[in-house]
Amino acid sequence: MRLLVTGGAGFIGSNFVHQTVRERPDVDVTVLDALTYAGDRASLAPVAEEVTLVEGDVADAETVDRLVADADVVVHFAAESHNDNSLSNPWPFVRTNVVGTYTLLEAVRRHEKRYHHISTDEVYGDLELDDPAKFTPETPYNPSSPYSSTKAASDLLVRAWVRSFGVQATISNCSNNYGPYQHVEKFIPRQITNVVDGIRPKLYGTGENVRDWIHVEDHNTAVWAIVERGRIGETYLIGADGEVDNKTVVELILELMGQSPDAYDHVNDRPGHDMRYAIDATKLRDELGWTPRYGSFRDGLAATIEWYRANEAWWRPQKDATEAKYAQLGR
Ligand code: NAD
Ligand code: DAU
Repeated sequence: MRLLVTGGAGFIGSNFVHQTVRERPDVDVTVLDALTYAGDRASLAPVAEEVTLVEGDVADAETVDRLVADADVVVHFAAESHNDNSLSNPWPFVRTNVVGTYTLLEAVRRHEKRYHHISTDEVYGDLELDDPAKFTPETPYNPSSPYSSTKAASDLLVRAWVRSFGVQATISNCSNNYGPYQHVEKFIPRQITNVVDGIRPKLYGTGENVRDWIHVEDHNTAVWAIVERGRIGETYLIGADGEVDNKTVVELILELMGQSPDAYDHVNDRPGHDMRYAIDATKLRDELGWTPRYGSFRDGLAATIEWYRANEAWWRPQKDATEAKYAQLGR
């Protein structure tokens, strides 16, 4: 199989490429990545010999057309992915997430290629803390932020291209990922690297907000299950029953790093901050037989802390600029 992975130098995309090279030697991987602030060649260094990396933009129709023509399957991870950035400057989100997805859809339509679209549970909005409900594929779209609204728009483009043009596509909406190679702007790596640097972790608002954590390896095994066995035109929700509130995550990081669990600060809340996400992954489990490999969030988090301790050379170049950006926001 000739596989085109967009955004393969980012967090989830690079882990997907690593897993693919490790477990599927029959797959020939090409990565298309613009190497924005969130993309890093170094994330692909361990597989550099096995993978072709093309530096380019998913909104560049010419580059996309050429690469899609040469592929059998396209898995589209590339995106602007950080909510806080989307509140400061939404335009790159509209361009990459909406126009970029449109550009890929037109190419897979023209060349009749199989397409898998990576999306987020945030398209469904948020849940109350005491609501017994979880998101299902039938939950109405109700995105809150510029980021999640552009992801919702891109999902709807995919649905329309399936129905109107017969494009062979599937969509997955996953909950919050954690693991190696995640940019230090994101919650878990930010707090781990803060503790390494002797800075107290920063909790937005009260810290009651709940995220449904899944290890990035589990996200990626689910993506492969959908690429191989998913029904065309269907949406699959990916999650591993990992609901934890932010305060508990920070306390766990501090404990696992040998600090007092209350050694953190509350900072300004994020405007429009979603309260809770929770995924019902029954369809993925029952229809495709997927199960997560990572049983315990605590163990996965401990391994992630070890990864950041051992790979300071990877994250150190991101750290100062990220904290300077947060300092301006009072977060
Ligand atoms: P990331 O920000 O770490 O990586 C994004 C990658 O896309 C980077 O390598 C970047 O250089 C590249 N990119 C950005 N704009 C581009 C463009 N115009 N052309 C080509 N490449 C471009 O993001 P991530 O956390 O790995 O997320 C990957 C995908 O998974 C996104 O679609 C995101 O919406 C989705 N997702 C993320 C999570 C999560 O918890 N991180 C959960 C569910 C879904
Ligand atoms: O749900 C899937 C989504 O998860 C993905 O679509 C996004 O790409 C990904 O970034 C993530 O979005 P969140 O906004 O949930 O992730 P983030 O890491 O930014 O924040 C997680 C929670 O932690 C959120 O409630 C905000 C809070 N937070 C974040 C940071 C950076 C803090 O309390 N302190 C912080 O310093």
